[in-house]
Amino acid sequence: MFQDLKVWINGRIVPWTEAKVHIMSHSFARGSAVFDVLGIHPGPDGPAAFRLSRHLDRFFRTADLLGMKIGYSREQLREAVAEVVKANGIGRGIIKLMGYYSEEAIIKLVMDSDLDIAIFAIPETQELILDKADPIKVCISRWRKLHPATVPVEAKACANYLNGMLSRRDAAERGFDLAIMLTTDGHVAEGAIESVFVVKDGIVKTPPLGNILQSVTRMSILEAAPSVGLDVREEQIMPQELLAADEMFTCHTGIKAVPVRQIEDRVFDVVPGPVTSKISQLMEDICSFRNERFRHWLEPLT
Ligand SMILES: Cc1ncc(COP(=O)(O)O)c(C=O)c1O
Repeated sequence: MFQDLKVWINGRIVPWTEAKVHIMSHSFARGSAVFDVLGIHPGPDGPAAFRLSRHLDRFFRTADLLGMKIGYSREQLREAVAEVVKANGIGRGIIKLMGYYSEEAIIKLVMDSDLDIAIFAIPETQELILDKADPIKVCISRWRKLHPATVPVEAKACANYLNGMLSRRDAAERGFDLAIMLTTDGHVAEGAIESVFVVKDGIVKTPPLGNILQSVTRMSILEAAPSVGLDVREEQIMPQELLAADEMFTCHTGIKAVPVRQIEDRVFDVVPGPVTSKISQLMEDICSFRNERFRHWLEPLT
């Protein structure tokens, strides 16, 4: 079905089958591509993008952190997102922005050219269910999160995801849905593509920035949760706190709060717990245009 989709590439809408690079392109051969992903939600006046401004900020920051140049303005990329959503008739789905060097570079390591930009709009399907999730089983990964002194972990760089891929493989081999990586000094970091929250005695905690991706969903939960009376904190979390938590959930832009039913061999009593349910409901209300206070997070695509 992807074959029928259209893609925005460097200012032109092209068929899915034309969205290609050579194997010797710098980004394929050297792993120098970057990206961002955000959700599209159907609204009363058409599809809206969840916190598009924040995602564009992060896309530009990723490029900055890696010394890469984007030859388009924020406004041009915003218009491009709207154009590709319209070209594909998307109601609910995801947008993936990619920055890459299609140039074939055999020995060149540092590129000075602007990034090529491709924007994909992918509708929700049976394989890509958004907003709702079954409770998951998680373990603690034997792989540690990349150290920020080796690569900027806040950059959404494709190469950083080898780390997450290994953690997912580790989880699958042990019969879990995903693995939480610890930092090299032993604190809880995040999953391959998700941030982590724990609840203990009514307090919601998530690890601070520094060793993790600046998740827009994580930030949104931190900002919105106090509006429903929840106490949320950014604090270092030790792995044993996961095992002793009352509740645990993960989040990313596709699914705003995924309840955890088991961590290693500890099974939670009530899943989803009351706090996780409250946060799920809050985020669902926001994404369904039912929450006036945070309605501006759904940015119209016109
Ligand atoms: C490593 C990592 N952490 C957290 C997240 C969640 O980020 P967001 O809420 O912006 O989707 C992602 C999402 O792609 C991710 O890749």
